[in-house]
Amino acid sequence: MIHPLQQLRAEALCEIDSAPDAQALEAARVKYLGRSGSIAAWGERVKTLDPEERPIVGRLLNEVRNAVTAAVAERAEKFRAQKESDALAKIDISLPGTPSENGSLHPLTQMLDHSIQIFRRMGFALADGPDIEDEWHCFDALNTPPEHPARNEQDTFYLPDGRLLRTHTSTVQIRAMQAAPPPMRVIAPGACYRRDEIDATHSAQFHQIEGLYVDKHVSVADLKGTLEFFMRELFGPETAVRFLPDHFPFTEPSLQIHVRSKALKRGEQWIEVAGCGIVHPAVFEAVNKARGDNAYDAEKWTGFAFGLGMDRLAMILFDIPDIRLFAQNDLRFLKQFA
Ligand code: PHE
Repeated sequence: MIHPLQQLRAEALCEIDSAPDAQALEAARVKYLGRSGSIAAWGERVKTLDPEERPIVGRLLNEVRNAVTAAVAERAEKFRAQKESDALAKIDISLPGTPSENGSLHPLTQMLDHSIQIFRRMGFALADGPDIEDEWHCFDALNTPPEHPARNEQDTFYLPDGRLLRTHTSTVQIRAMQAAPPPMRVIAPGACYRRDEIDATHSAQFHQIEGLYVDKHVSVADLKGTLEFFMRELFGPETAVRFLPDHFPFTEPSLQIHVRSKALKRGEQWIEVAGCGIVHPAVFEAVNKARGDNAYDAEKWTGFAFGLGMDRLAMILFDIPDIRLFAQNDLRFLKQFA
């Protein structure tokens, strides 16, 4: 004889397996497994049975409940998978995608990367320093006395606490020598700031690559050889380089570098691109004092330093007429260098 619970199971499984959609399945679940469903009613009924019958029917009820629960879960999973594949089928993978534009490097970054590469081939390591500096690193240590015009409030951005935005990357010469004894061969690319009247060739922020080379018997010939090689790598082998006397407090002698090249669209005119010179002994002295030793003994060591104007170099290399274009973020301009 078939127990009514077995009958119930057969009916429930049949109804669940033939439920046409998720709503019908939910209705069946409530009907059998819900709080006032038939399986719950059987639970109440079991409690009233004779003690001998109770465990047998109880076990059967458990089996039925488990079987029905499993059948509901299985059918629900089928509907969920069906829904997912229906949704995927609606996506037309032959439609064109959303285009994403490739970015490119800013012309100044390209120029900087290229320049760094040339100096690295000559054995220069990279050094770094902060844009917000103290007066000592920017001026005093570089043999630039308080009354020097570069320190004027008309020329330099001072912060309320007395610090300043560095006016040149020469600050990193000092930081590099404080950090390590000679020999020293570093370049330091970075931004500089001056209170210049802004026009086509002047900006409040511009970029330099500083160079410092300290070793035994370093001379102006080494300086000229290094920078001539650099300029020819950058502007082509035809490039002419000339050195004119100049003045910087932290170098003696001091020179400015001009280049001229047929390859440049500007034609054959001399263009000033850098300041340089032989490191002044007073700079070594300031560094020694800060270090508390005599590592940079001016009797033993000599060095050269230079500061290349990166914006200027990029302007002549790419024939850019106005320095302000670098900072205006105009895609029509930037795309020309992509
Ligand atoms: N710091 C100088 C400037 O900004 C350039 C320079 C660097 C000159 C190193 C000599 C040596 O104009």
